[in-house]
Amino acid sequence: MENPEHLKADLLAQVEAAATLQALEDVRVAALGKKGAITAQMKTLGGLDPEARKAMGQALNAVKDAVAEAIDTKKAAMADAELDAKLLAERVDVTLPVRPEREGQLHPISRTIEEVVAILGEMGFEVHEGPEIEDDWYNFTALNIPEDHPARQEHDTFYLPGHGAKGRKVLRTHTSPVQIRTMLKTKPPLRIIAPGRTYRCDYDATHSPMFHQVEGLVIDKAVHMGHLKGCLIDFCRAYFGVDDLPVRFRPSYFPFTEPSAEVDIGCSREGGEFKIGHGDSWLEILGCGMVNPKVLENCGIDPAEYQGFAFGVGVERIAMLKYGIPDLRTFYESDLRWLRHYGFSALDVPSMVGGLNP
Ligand code: DAH
Repeated sequence: MENPEHLKADLLAQVEAAATLQALEDVRVAALGKKGAITAQMKTLGGLDPEARKAMGQALNAVKDAVAEAIDTKKAAMADAELDAKLLAERVDVTLPVRPEREGQLHPISRTIEEVVAILGEMGFEVHEGPEIEDDWYNFTALNIPEDHPARQEHDTFYLPGHGAKGRKVLRTHTSPVQIRTMLKTKPPLRIIAPGRTYRCDYDATHSPMFHQVEGLVIDKAVHMGHLKGCLIDFCRAYFGVDDLPVRFRPSYFPFTEPSAEVDIGCSREGGEFKIGHGDSWLEILGCGMVNPKVLENCGIDPAEYQGFAFGVGVERIAMLKYGIPDLRTFYESDLRWLRHYGFSALDVPSMVGGLNP
């Protein structure tokens, strides 16, 4: 039987000499493994008398612990050293210029909707959505556009095969049916906007069969025309980033509002250059009005108790005006050069501080 102290010194020297993690592992197996040196010594204990067996057993266990601890300590140190070396070799040179990378861009339509939602969201409007495939009743009848009404023709509707619970299926011609769906579903007071796609059978430089609108609806107990005007004047000024932008309300007609108005903003066309702001011209940008009592009744709201106002904005139109995009059709051509020119960085979040970032 080997002297435990010699055994210990020998094994610790081997641990000390191990230069790699693998060498250390070999030492561990050779010392503590099933066929290792300490294990072999343990196996000889049976031949000793009880006193000597006890003493020898304790001594061998102490050797085992000491060797195991030495291996663990060395292993941790080696792992640290290995990591340090790796980190040193991988050091990033922060002075190197960034490699050019092509970032995706936000389409001007998405960007404009984000801006409108940011401005009106700030005023307390909540975003609601409705289906693009509508029933005739929501798109027309409930909005006080009955069967034989000329407005139906003006809408150049895409009719779809089949009927829903509330009449023929159509591709919604405006986002106004979201008003109806919201009033039927949620009790007033209401303050909602509904951005989304709309469809009409029309195609030229300022019309596309698919386009976007944002609908707005406010219903409460003492809402009047002054609220409508304040809200839309503020909206126009924030959106176009012109604090004193002239805004005028021109009497108009929509079946779902009474009275109805069209909103014009001031602009100038001096020397062939178009500019939004003060000038001698006006430009129509949206429709609005006080919600027609018939529409409230169609949605089960008592017009003697509640009133409200509504508005509808064409997203492409206000995007073209703000960003100087001359032809509406280019929005949908997916020409990458156009998208890179008119697109926005996704990181450029609309902010209300000092108007919106361009
Ligand atoms: N729905 C109208 C359109 O598509 C826009 C509109 C006008 C919506 C007046 C409204 C409104 O809510 O009050 O032309």
